[in-house]
Amino acid sequence: MTRSYLEAAIEIAREAGAILREEFDRPAEISYKGDVDIVTQADKRSEKAIVARLAELYPEHSIAAEEGTGHEGKSEFRWHVDPLDGTTNFAHGYPCFCVSIALAQRDRLLAAVVLNPFYHELFAAARGEGATLNGKAIYVSKMARVSTSLLCTGFPVQNRQLSPNLQFYGDFTMRSHGVRRDGSAALDLANVATGRFDGFWEFGLKPWDTAAGVLLIEEAGGKVSDFAGNPYWLGGPMVLATNGLIHEEMRAAANEIYDRVVGPAKQ
Ligand code: IPD
Ligand code: CA
Ligand code: CA
Repeated sequence: MTRSYLEAAIEIAREAGAILREEFDRPAEISYKGDVDIVTQADKRSEKAIVARLAELYPEHSIAAEEGTGHEGKSEFRWHVDPLDGTTNFAHGYPCFCVSIALAQRDRLLAAVVLNPFYHELFAAARGEGATLNGKAIYVSKMARVSTSLLCTGFPVQNRQLSPNLQFYGDFTMRSHGVRRDGSAALDLANVATGRFDGFWEFGLKPWDTAAGVLLIEEAGGKVSDFAGNPYWLGGPMVLATNGLIHEEMRAAANEIYDRVVGPAKQ
């Protein structure tokens, strides 16, 4: 059953990807949801197509989609949809963006797809069946130390001044080979699943940003938690996602930075 959900999600992601690819070739119509939180015509068209197809196939399922066109259903299945992750990149013509679709049954993620339509990279995972990139099995890296790892993070598009992440960025930059900031959390997580990055963290991500990427990493052999080491829950205040081998070292460092920057009592 999970496999058929995954196949449907892949087909729908490809349709949405074709819309994004088409929109990418024309000037973006930008509006603001607040601060530097951009929304374009492409976000809306992509979401409309995804929600319509999911609703047609699975009328009982709930859909949580970023631009707000989802709905509550009667069943315990919920689709988490980011119709365009990396909107800022997209609007500036930087081809680092994707469609992210995941299915959860209550709290358990079952199927995940992340598609970068510009580079034709399709990441997919089904619970218990592993993760793939364009049909080929992928695994997290074997990097065992933070000092020789390549990390990634992202910054919020709302209330930027409240985020402590600049200090984390600086500190982890000094502890590692470097920290990338690619601007698409779903692709960042997918890139941990492929072993391109060894670790990723970010504050304040929404369920549609992380749902697919979390399952990709788990199925590729990695680990996802909060800074306390508890299992990450969708929409949790921070996410730490690694190859597993550097997880404890990154977690200890993150707590040290957190205590210094935010204060021990506030976490
Ligand atoms: C954003 C991207 C970005 C992350 C932001 C997200 P959007 O999503 O994932 O990498 O740093 O926190 O809001 O707005 O492009 O869908
Ligand atoms: Ca997003
Ligand atoms: Ca989005």
